[in-house]
Amino acid sequence: MASVYPAVSELVAEARRVYAQEFGEEAPRTAVCAPGRVNLIGEHTDYNQGYVLPMALPLVTVVVGSQTSGQDVTVVTATKDADEPRRVDFSLPGDGSPLSPGSPSWANYVKGVIQHYRASPVPGFRAVIASSVPLGGGLSSSASLEVAVYTFLQQLRPDDGDKVSKAVACQQAEHTHAGVPCGIMDQFVSVLGREGHALLIDCRSLEATPVPLADPGLVILITNSNVRHSLTGSEYPMRRRQCEEAASTLGKESLRDATMKDLEEARDRLDDVTCRRARHVIEEIERTVQAAEALKRGAYKEFGKLMVESHNSLRDLYEVSCRELDELVSAAMEVDGVFGSRMTGGGFGGCTVTLLQADAIDRTILHIQQRYSGTPTFYVTTPSEGARALSL
Ligand code: ADP
Ligand code: GAL
Repeated sequence: MASVYPAVSELVAEARRVYAQEFGEEAPRTAVCAPGRVNLIGEHTDYNQGYVLPMALPLVTVVVGSQTSGQDVTVVTATKDADEPRRVDFSLPGDGSPLSPGSPSWANYVKGVIQHYRASPVPGFRAVIASSVPLGGGLSSSASLEVAVYTFLQQLRPDDGDKVSKAVACQQAEHTHAGVPCGIMDQFVSVLGREGHALLIDCRSLEATPVPLADPGLVILITNSNVRHSLTGSEYPMRRRQCEEAASTLGKESLRDATMKDLEEARDRLDDVTCRRARHVIEEIERTVQAAEALKRGAYKEFGKLMVESHNSLRDLYEVSCRELDELVSAAMEVDGVFGSRMTGGGFGGCTVTLLQADAIDRTILHIQQRYSGTPTFYVTTPSEGARALSL
């Protein structure tokens, strides 16, 4: 059985209950939400200025709260999986000095967003966070938290409303306050996601083309492996460095500008590992463009084949998959009616994404459950809207 996730209204109700417990009877005046994401194809291409094709999820992070008169901020997370304490109090520095990251680690996302918010001064506030995005599951709970906090601040002290700059500010928050040198994909789609569409994002120009994805005969299934290998923290920055090294050896600004011919010509000047990393990126950028074209034509088989090629490349060339993700993909591909399946997100655990015929959903879930050595969680999802203010 696929997981039933709470509706946005239920998350708001939960956040309001916690708000009343923490802050007394006065109701919060503002509520916002921002979605998590799943990436259909285009993995580890965003920080190489390439293309990605993610969609926003119906799984969201909600923030409810109110402005206060002073400089004090109190934030509580209702999410049990966050590290303790789940309530933090701090003051906004009046002199513009930075809000340093510290403990608990979840509050760093809030502080980072305040730090990079694009209007000033940010007023004091009280807020409660509630979320249906699994934490650390590769569906971008962190980006959805950043974008939700940014959207909340927009209600208190509006900025110029530029959405791309908003996504970039949230990405900066992740760099400076969570120490993750991520690309732009997660924050971009959490801000600009469109109901019924995936987004083909050009991570060089920061332009996005919505690609319709609302065929009732089609299902997008997310399978959480429920494993997270600790490698993620060190391997991600290392992959980024390898790509930068490859680009510089090829005399290119980024791997976006490189072709397989360029790579072959420079083979002697690159070590084998760096060469494989670069090959993944160059081919994955091309696959992503082809996949978006295939999706527009409703050529799901073709799209599915590209998904599997993407997975194999992430496993063999980029080396960011793991046994559990490989098992989930193999199991999915054994089912009649499945078009394609691949790991999604940074790798080393987290989730797979599978595209299949709607009438194959029950047997697909059953088969994966039987074949997977761990305990999976399933989400049947549809492309959803980006961050938004909610009425209370
Ligand atoms: P992912 O973004 O793939 O879910 P990350 O490890 O990048 O995984 O980010 C997860 C972290 O984000 C959590 O450990 C926590 O610090 C923070 N976070 C995300 N959602 C929430 C939430 N609702 N409440 C508190 N912290 C959260
Ligand atoms: C994520 C990261 C994204 C992207 C992705 C791999 O963890 O936040 O920016 O690089 O990995 O495609």
